[in-house]
Amino acid sequence: MALDRVDAYLEAHRGAFEEQLKALIRIPSVSAQPDHNADTRRAAEFVRDDLAAMGLRAELIETPGHPLVFAEGPAVPGKPTVLVYGHYDVQPPEPLEPWLSPPFEPTVRDGNLYARGATDDKGQMFTHLKAAEAWLKAGGGLPVNVKFLIEGEEEVGGANLEAYVAANPDKLRCDYAVVSDTSQFAPGMPAITYGLKGLAYFEVIVRGAKTDLHSGTFGGAVANPLNALATILASLKGPDGRIQIAGFYDPVRPLADWERAEFARLPFSEAEFQASLGVTSLEGEAGYTTLERKGARPTCDVNGVYGGYQGPGPKTVLPCQAGAKLSFRLVPDQDPRTVSAQFHAHVRSVCPPGVTYEIIDHHGAPAVLVGVDSPGVRAATRAVEAGFGKAPVFIREGGSIPVVGLFKTKLGVDTLLLGWGQNDDNLHGPNEKFSLADFHRGIKASAHLLGELAQQAGGGVEA
Ligand code: BES
Ligand code: MN
Ligand code: MN
Repeated sequence: MALDRVDAYLEAHRGAFEEQLKALIRIPSVSAQPDHNADTRRAAEFVRDDLAAMGLRAELIETPGHPLVFAEGPAVPGKPTVLVYGHYDVQPPEPLEPWLSPPFEPTVRDGNLYARGATDDKGQMFTHLKAAEAWLKAGGGLPVNVKFLIEGEEEVGGANLEAYVAANPDKLRCDYAVVSDTSQFAPGMPAITYGLKGLAYFEVIVRGAKTDLHSGTFGGAVANPLNALATILASLKGPDGRIQIAGFYDPVRPLADWERAEFARLPFSEAEFQASLGVTSLEGEAGYTTLERKGARPTCDVNGVYGGYQGPGPKTVLPCQAGAKLSFRLVPDQDPRTVSAQFHAHVRSVCPPGVTYEIIDHHGAPAVLVGVDSPGVRAATRAVEAGFGKAPVFIREGGSIPVVGLFKTKLGVDTLLLGWGQNDDNLHGPNEKFSLADFHRGIKASAHLLGELAQQAGGGVEA
């Protein structure tokens, strides 16, 4: 049987797949850092070349920023079309000091591959390339129509992908979209994610006097932008953990009873979670459990604050400028543009006198909820079980993947969110890792997914 030959190919190529992934990871494709623009392009070329080598039509698509990679398999008439999305860009590795091995020198310890991009998203994305390769090299060809769209600006919330998807719905047309850029629920508990949060990200810059001033000579006589910024930031949340912006919760759907029951059924210990993070207590919105807060309630966090003297020792100074970066994670029916308008109005109402401010709107994305009762989800459930030896649980996660909302609005498809990562993979942090066992399980699950989807009615192929 073709699937047996595919499985045998995967077994025989475990070592080769790991070496290829390491080669991709060695390319420091940090999309946020212009110094790495050439590296970022090299990662795109690596992905394109790998897709071309297995026999797909693969191309780089230029954008005003980092290129997209698109590839397409041979037409399989009468079979559905699967669009795989992933991203080849990575977060900056800084701070470097806590890394136990260099971020772009992939190193195996205890069965985990440590490097920036190991799980987010090079390792996870690569599973789908290797699954397609196995069908092409050993399975007699792909069993469905396959398209790949791999981007290089996911971590910087680039607008270029949105423009491309909006302008090319026919090229990207598919029956199923698949993304592996999320996590399992726990080791040994694979998951299908059916909800992701949205994002509204802002920077607030507060300005006071023309220049920095002596804090003794001038302090108390003019407003201090850093104090004013602290007032603004402190106004965002109440002691009950609720966000105090007028209208913010208006569109938020209450959690349904069935959903609260599902959250409660997941094996999760608040005490162990607290201990694993090294915090003195778990904090959040009153009236909700930790899993509900993480997965299904909107949140607000300050991501960074600057201003005043940051060097060693004290310096008595009244700074003339201060700034903060902050983000709201959104849930379904909250529109990032509405949240932006509400946030602007809120800052206007609470900003103390004597300073001016500016708000920069960084990226935004809507939250997504995908159906859990569909032929695609049932096929994915069987495929995950084949790869991981266990049926997946269904979870909502707090992270954001902007493309999933685009696929829904521009292509009309729900995305299958099949995460192979673990919650302690340190994505975006030092010592990011990906379990090599999960890497191989993910490849097998992806290969079986293509086989499972081939059993479904075909959307046919375009001319
Ligand atoms: N892969 C993550 C998103 C994610 C992480 C989903 C963990 C579920 C669990 C993705 O690469 C990411 O980092 N997204 C950003 C948003 C983007 C607009 C910068 C995020 O969630 O912060
Ligand atoms: Mn990612
Ligand atoms: Mn990320």
